[in-house]
Amino acid sequence: MPAKVPEDAYTAEPFVPDGAGLDELRKAAAGCRGCPLHRDATQTVFGAGNPHARVMLVGEQPGDQEDRQGKPFVGPAGKLLDRALAEAGIDPAQAYVTNAVKHFKFTQAEPKKRRIHKAPSLREMTACGPWLAAELAVVEPELIVVLGATAGKALLGSSFRVTEVRGTVLEREIHGREERLVPTAHPSSVLRSEDRESAFRGLVSDLRTAARILS
Ligand code: URA
Ligand code: SF4
Repeated sequence: MPAKVPEDAYTAEPFVPDGAGLDELRKAAAGCRGCPLHRDATQTVFGAGNPHARVMLVGEQPGDQEDRQGKPFVGPAGKLLDRALAEAGIDPAQAYVTNAVKHFKFTQAEPKKRRIHKAPSLREMTACGPWLAAELAVVEPELIVVLGATAGKALLGSSFRVTEVRGTVLEREIHGREERLVPTAHPSSVLRSEDRESAFRGLVSDLRTAARILS
């Protein structure tokens, strides 16, 4: 049996080509074996959208639909996000959308049963970080919208608490670049919320803060 790779050795780093554009990065990411999540997922779901976007939206990880289609935010959470963006005055088509982790992590009681989303570990987020860093370096957005706790921890560290900072404008150095960020709730949390309407309003309100910065 091959030796098990120690968890702290998980990293996408050796798979990320230097100085590559988005197309080359996307091709390389398709072959990433930086952590064990590639094993059970269908495919890598790399970021998508306007390569010259002024705003980059960062989610957690692909869901079931994204895993099947190979594109970020194409399932129910993505539909809700598009509606919220449009209401806030941000054209979804002008944005670049990606995830902190590029493979779908799930549990499944039996083969063919529904695949249930499982939160990625800090190690998996850290392992996948070089892809997000490469996307940031190429797209150079003016603003990052942080969608939920996982994206927040991946970008701002493990002490990030979305409830404490949502709807505010943060300025931080990330991977050697000064970034401006607006954190908000993850659109999936809106879908799970008991009071969906008010959760949706909260998301739109945070996105309006982002829209103001871009105007
Ligand atoms: N949730 C995410 O965080 N990302 C997606 O791409 C889809 C759902
Ligand atoms: Fe590579 Fe990220 Fe997929 Fe892990 S989750 S295999 S680091 S692309």
